[in-house]
Amino acid sequence: MRIIAACLAILLPMITTASAATPAERHGFAFAKSHCARCHAIGLTGTSRLKKAPPFRTLHDRYPVETLAEAFAEGIYTGHSKMPAFELEPDQINDLLSYLKSLERAGPRGRSHPPGYPRSME
Ligand code: HEC
Repeated sequence: MRIIAACLAILLPMITTASAATPAERHGFAFAKSHCARCHAIGLTGTSRLKKAPPFRTLHDRYPVETLAEAFAEGIYTGHSKMPAFELEPDQINDLLSYLKSLERAGPRGRSHPPGYPRSME
């Protein structure tokens, strides 16, 4: 009995860590929260503050989110009439894409969201 308890004590934290967000996903979320959330819904639920801005969790329905890397590097200007132009560093792009991909995995048909993820930005 004690051995089983000891095994659980070792295994449980490993399982929890495996399903938690990676550092890149967390950084991407923090970045989105401070730079994008005032217009876009960035979590798994909720509506965008600016109606025209697509919720981040819907981006992958339109195109593979990887294709945004170039636009982020050069600055998204097109179609962003209301949005300040911005250019991201490679690290920031990597983090942001990791976060966007985690939303994709966590979608309705994917696994449930990892702990610590925003349910809503409201
Ligand atoms: C001031 C408001 C505002 C902020 C801040 C903002 N956006 Fe947007 N964003 C918009 C609007 C409005 C649209 C829709 C533009 C359209 O469809 O014409 C949009 C669209 C997008 C799209 C979809 C582009 C496409 O053509 O499919 C992406 C990707 C995006 N934003 C990323 C970001 C990221 C990443 C950030 C933060 C770094 C951000 N936005 C911050 C207003 C904003």
